Amino acid sequence: MEDSKGLLEMLHVISTLVLVVVAVGLWLRRRRNAIHIRLMISAFLIDLSLLLYIEYSRHAVQKVVASTRPLVWFHATVSVVVLLCYVVMIQLGRGVLAGNPRARKRHHMLGIVFVVLRGLNYITSYLVT
Ligand code: HEM
Repeated sequence: MEDSKGLLEMLHVISTLVLVVVAVGLWLRRRRNAIHIRLMISAFLIDLSLLLYIEYSRHAVQKVVASTRPLVWFHATVSVVVLLCYVVMIQLGRGVLAGNPRARKRHHMLGIVFVVLRGLNYITSYLVT
């Protein structure tokens, strides 16, 4: 059965909102801003829910396995790596709060990687549907 267009649009809208949440979170990243932490954790929870919903409602993993399109595989891989990045960023963020300078440096560097990967995830989500 074809996926409904409305549902697909809604998933893209939610994904766009996550990007806005991440952008505001990055804007408010300085001086141990509690809003930065809350926004980034919210973005993680929404992205995690989106991925679980897409898997259970649309059998995403089965579609990826059945697909021969490299872009579909790329998109799926980036999506999983983004979720892993969130988990590591939260761990590093805790290190930053504990005053660990190495954690701060890594939080900064992985933050850049995260933004690039979340951007790629967003762009490719339009190309694979
Ligand atoms: C994917 C999620 C996240 C991204 C992309 C991100 C990104 C960043 C970036 C780029 C900075 C600036 C770092 C610097 O210039 O040194 C920063 C600062 C910070 N982040 Fe995050 N962050 C994320 C999640 C979190 C979480 C979950 C926590 C806490 C548990 C956290 C705690 C902090 C703190 C305390 C700072 C301030 C560092 C300072 O200026 O002293 N971050 N974050």
